Amino acid sequence: MAKRDHFATRLGFVLAAAGSAVGLGNIWKFPFMTGQNGGGAFLVLYVAFVLTIGLSVMLAEFAIGRAGQRNPVGAFRALKGGAWPAVGGLGVIAGFVILSFYSVVGGWTLAYAIKSVSGALASNDPKILGAAFGAFIADPLDVIGFHAAFMVLTLVIVAGGVRHGIERAARILMPILALLVIVLAVRAVTLDGAAKGIAFFLTPDFSRVTWDTVNAALGQAFFSLSLGMGTMITYASYLDRQVNLPKTAAQVTLLDTGFAVIAGLMVLPAVFAFGFDPAAGPGLTFITLPAVFAQMPAGALFAFLFFALLAIAALTSAVSIIEPVVSYLIDERKMSRRAATWGAGAVTWALGVPSALSLGPWKDVTVGGKGILDAVDYLASNIMLPLGGILITLFVGWSVAARAVDEAQSGGAHPFALAKVWIFICRFVAPAAVAWVMIQGL
Ligand code: PHE
Repeated sequence: MAKRDHFATRLGFVLAAAGSAVGLGNIWKFPFMTGQNGGGAFLVLYVAFVLTIGLSVMLAEFAIGRAGQRNPVGAFRALKGGAWPAVGGLGVIAGFVILSFYSVVGGWTLAYAIKSVSGALASNDPKILGAAFGAFIADPLDVIGFHAAFMVLTLVIVAGGVRHGIERAARILMPILALLVIVLAVRAVTLDGAAKGIAFFLTPDFSRVTWDTVNAALGQAFFSLSLGMGTMITYASYLDRQVNLPKTAAQVTLLDTGFAVIAGLMVLPAVFAFGFDPAAGPGLTFITLPAVFAQMPAGALFAFLFFALLAIAALTSAVSIIEPVVSYLIDERKMSRRAATWGAGAVTWALGVPSALSLGPWKDVTVGGKGILDAVDYLASNIMLPLGGILITLFVGWSVAARAVDEAQSGGAHPFALAKVWIFICRFVAPAAVAWVMIQGL
């Protein structure tokens, strides 16, 4: 086998993994889900899941990927074989499912970057902004066109190989995005009337927690950390043995959670200050933030910067959603990177068209009481990713525990004091807790 591409440095890997984790999940999904699920209690549940189960699954994926040095299917086969490679297969399928709707929302961010330049969004009237979003989302050609544009940008990067494009882009752009999100959060929390939003976000009211809330928080933890489908297995397969995996997993997790919390502080105070509805759903960020920009000097510039950077954050995640699929097609089906990328991308784009139409012409089509985009998101985040997480932790906990611990310690180079706790979580806590939440959710 030819030598596999590897990340140049540990920092490069941290940024690429953080680039995968930080995306629409943090800045688009997290604030609106918090809004729909009652605020502070959702935040507490989310952070609890991230720090226990999320961190453990991430380390499990890192260990599998780096030990296996292959795509998700091949990595399971290299470590154990039997029926386990099917877990990688589930991840490959999840890649198609997730990117199908992710690229639709990615298209929205591109469209909004352009609209903000034209001044079409310069208003702080909820009615006007709501109507602008509604009109955009209802125009099938616009939405599908931007969906295609976002997909093409993703594929160009993936076709060129992740290492140079993504590693470099993440290094420059992630710090700018962080800075901008902090500036906007400061602006949002100092708006008149922001206090109610801050209280909503930070004061947990557990009397409002239902199984749906718990299930939503768990799904969001998997989605936001890019877990359960082999993204982190694939990225870690491009990693050298000397990198300290537990430390890296902790850093990526903290970066991702930090972005989500700051995004919450950026959106939710503004929601209350301007009298929007926190439970407005997927449009929340797109409707609320323009009102914040309208309150700022050089608002159009900030609006453009924000949506452009959000598009880039989404791109670095989109790349990581399709990379497991592409690496599977290359390793296992002997396709060229180029054919694998464009083939998988075309299929995914077509799969996404119903989601693209689902807030416009097809808004009355529902699956299990949800619009199509929401339903596909639910299938991925609340069923496929948690199921993948259960199987991945069972694999590490029961099937290859000794090998996984050795890998997590880089063969002894980086002693990992919590190895026993980690294996205990993988054996019992994570599979049982995730299964329990999933069963209650259904
Ligand atoms: N974590 C990404 C985000 O928050 C989405 C993602 C999910 C990426 C699954 C890879 C795998 O936007």
